[in-house]
Amino acid sequence: MKDILQELESRRAEARLGGGQGRIEAQHKRGKLTARERIELLLDEGSFEEFDMFKAHRCTDFGMEKSRPYGDGVVTGWGTINGRMVYVFSQDFTVFGGSLSETHAEKICKIMDMAMQNGAPVIGINDSGGARIQEGVASLAGYAEVFQRNIMASGVVPQISLVMGPCAGGAVYSPAMTDFIFMVRDTSYMFVTGPDVVKTVTNEVVSAEELGGASTHTRKSSVADGAFENDVEALAEVRRLVDFLPLSNREKPPVRPFFDQPGRVEPSLDTLIPDNANTPYDMKELILKVADEGDFYEIQEDFAKNIITGFIRLEGQTVGVVANQPMVLAGCLDIDSSRKAARFVRFCDCFEIPILTFVDVPGFLPGTGQEFGGVIKHGAKLLFAYGEATVPKVTVITRKAYGGAYDVMASKHLRGDFNYAWPTAEIAVMGARGATEIIYRADLGDADRIAAHTASYEDRFANPFVAAERGFIDEVIQPRSTRMRVSRAFASLRNKKLSNPWKKHDNIPL
Ligand code: HXC
Repeated sequence: MKDILQELESRRAEARLGGGQGRIEAQHKRGKLTARERIELLLDEGSFEEFDMFKAHRCTDFGMEKSRPYGDGVVTGWGTINGRMVYVFSQDFTVFGGSLSETHAEKICKIMDMAMQNGAPVIGINDSGGARIQEGVASLAGYAEVFQRNIMASGVVPQISLVMGPCAGGAVYSPAMTDFIFMVRDTSYMFVTGPDVVKTVTNEVVSAEELGGASTHTRKSSVADGAFENDVEALAEVRRLVDFLPLSNREKPPVRPFFDQPGRVEPSLDTLIPDNANTPYDMKELILKVADEGDFYEIQEDFAKNIITGFIRLEGQTVGVVANQPMVLAGCLDIDSSRKAARFVRFCDCFEIPILTFVDVPGFLPGTGQEFGGVIKHGAKLLFAYGEATVPKVTVITRKAYGGAYDVMASKHLRGDFNYAWPTAEIAVMGARGATEIIYRADLGDADRIAAHTASYEDRFANPFVAAERGFIDEVIQPRSTRMRVSRAFASLRNKKLSNPWKKHDNIPL
């Protein structure tokens, strides 16, 4: 009996060593943790339960039968994050470069199936050379099995990808179909075709970092939702994110203890809006002052900064925030900001996370670049996302709400539950000057008359009361009491029931 126990321990030790001490050291030299070290940091101490530790590949081509390391390049299992269950897979670059074989894929699929069945998020740590070249189509089939599960799990359990090394070729499409992708600066990259292929086909010379590094994907492509300095920071931040999310679509988001007064009044908000309507101010100040303990988890912080998306808590409950940012492009909607916010709104809606919208939007960005790029269709994504969302929706207009963008930004007409405005709100088809120049075109040569028309337009429309008279604004509120008003609004909506008509699925403008 003792011998058998010892054998188990020695097999386990062998499995834990992955591709061997030399490759582990090489991994560390690159500033990367190993697959197991990453899991240890991600999960609560001692909570990890491994599956398939001894699983090995079945390939017999290219002499592969001579090397059958335990685990086959991926560590899988489940554990807890602050006591809440998650499933995890972590690719082991020390074993065949973390490449995906048929059996490697089977291990990932097993935990994905269990996550769906048991209702817990899947966190995938990607560090892989892609398809196991020696296995050919068996490896491609393995990828497709994972893809199919990503699709089935979408909207059922949260799926989070950490890209912590190479992720290339078709392999990128598994993270791409998950809810959030996080990368590590300088050690991770994602691309469909690498620098060599790019050079051959398009003659462009580009480094892997430039083509698909964290900076590219958080600033230019928006493929990734956040980038971190190193593995440790990335793993800690994913733990923080998981705390905001429900485990599945079968349950509500978690309620955390909170140490902040729901009725906290913030007098400084009364002066947040500058006297000049064209002077920007930082919308993040409002978000931080409304949130429990000023805690805000921002998503896509470096992309389309004219709109802000992320999670806060109100009375301990998770709320998704979407807010125009007047500091960037005057907070207008454009292709990128519409896409960014639409995806965020849809995430919140599939996981029953209420949505708080702060509006200061002068309209859609004009120009051929926008029109040729399809701003009509991309803007419609955000409109569609808000309109189909059935979660509690509370909106506060702080300043401008002009034109179609007023409608889009969670207006009353898109089934907003509470639509508040600050006294500084201006709700109109467009700014006073532009409006005057259109409706009083005949007076264009007369500056005094145009100024008078502009002033009278401002008197009539540069306020929230016309909309409030019609019930499009439920209440004009004091800026200082915003936290109290929105907290009470969401509290009153905790039992909200609203459903859309039956359909197979909708046809959102993609
Ligand atoms: C088998 C692989 C492998 C792979 C790496 N290795 N990639 N083994 N299949 N895809 C092995 C190497 O042989 C090596 O083994 C070890 O992993 C580490 O690789 P190195 O090349 O030494 O590491 P590094 O210099 O860091 O380079 C990493 C790399 C490079 C950039 C990822 O290995 C690489 O280019 N690999 C091939 C990438 C690729 O073309 N994959 C297929 C993409 S197509 P030893 O024993 O020497 O340690 C694809 C299709 C998916 O993925 C389709 C889904 C639909």
